[in-house]
Amino acid sequence: MSTDNRPWVEKYRPRLLGDVVNQKGIIRRLQQFIKDKSMPHLIFAGPAGTGKTTSALAMVRGLYGRKMAINTTFLELNASDARGINVIRTYVKDFAKAKPPSDIPFKILILDEADNMTAPAQQALRRTMEKYTKNCRMVLICNYSNKIIPPIQSRCVVFRFSSLNKDDIKERVKFIANQEQMSLTPDGLVALADVSKGDCRRAINYLQSCSTISKKIDQDIVFRVAGEVPSDKIREILKTAIEGQLQFSLKLLNDIIGEYGLSGINIIKNIHREIYDLQISEDLKIELSKLLAESEYRLSQGGTEEIQLQALLANIVMLHEIK
Ligand SMILES: Nc1ncnc2c1ncn2[C@@H]1O[C@H](COP(=O)(O)OP(=O)(O)O)[C@@H](O)[C@H]1O
Ligand SMILES: [Mg+2]
Repeated sequence: MSTDNRPWVEKYRPRLLGDVVNQKGIIRRLQQFIKDKSMPHLIFAGPAGTGKTTSALAMVRGLYGRKMAINTTFLELNASDARGINVIRTYVKDFAKAKPPSDIPFKILILDEADNMTAPAQQALRRTMEKYTKNCRMVLICNYSNKIIPPIQSRCVVFRFSSLNKDDIKERVKFIANQEQMSLTPDGLVALADVSKGDCRRAINYLQSCSTISKKIDQDIVFRVAGEVPSDKIREILKTAIEGQLQFSLKLLNDIIGEYGLSGINIIKNIHREIYDLQISEDLKIELSKLLAESEYRLSQGGTEEIQLQALLANIVMLHEIK
């Protein structure tokens, strides 16, 4: 293994646009900006861990290569640390106002989590954007573009990033595991793609956590790290409760709590994930989801985990008649 001990999400952040997976249409258009040595203001919108920041940085690199120096050619700011209007009025404005070095046509400001900015801060940003367009182009990164005020939206070209599909996540995870000389069993790979839910950052972080447990990663390790319980175990608990075997389902519940070290809320989320795929009547699913909602609420209000979880199973047993 290398001595580079950066978090893997940084270590394996693609440096070139061509290495960003999944967002093909977007990447092609960004590559065109690089060819043209010109770009409009941009909004990158989409879920976490899909390559927005990566693409923005790769584009700066594509445009400026070795000239890529923080503060003179580009600046990356997180708007949620700096969401106040003062930062926009001073720091951001100063950056945008100062002329770019003579060897580049314009500077680039990457503003992460721009949808967390207050409306007045966004208004101030809009004015800076307008006034210093010649000096500075902006890339605003957000989860939801509708939280960006319309006058900014209309000045930007919006790119919508989509969640990565499972195959893309698997490819990326396999590549990293290989580089780190880890082995992934086929079920471990499937589990990683499942628990990361289209978020590549999450997949890589889970992989790194798994690596501290073992060099050989299987489904069991992945679920443990992700705080999720394999479907068949949760289904077994539900099935025995629905069939009226309270004692047995309580024992199974205690086993998984011990084995996976999960909190009550976490257990409820795991059960919730499973109920819609169970082979039971719609009526029973509705009743189950009501019970889960109630338990979740009680736990959030400080109910004792053990008592609430036992009550939940007892209530499921009492649904017996609806079946
Ligand atoms: N489309 C992608 N292709 C390759 N790696 C990706 C992609 N999206 C995310 N990643 C990985 O996940 C990490 C986080 O990605 P990032 O671009 O910061 O996501 P966000 O969309 O939240 O800004 C990156 O370091 C990279 O390793
Ligand atoms: Mg980001």
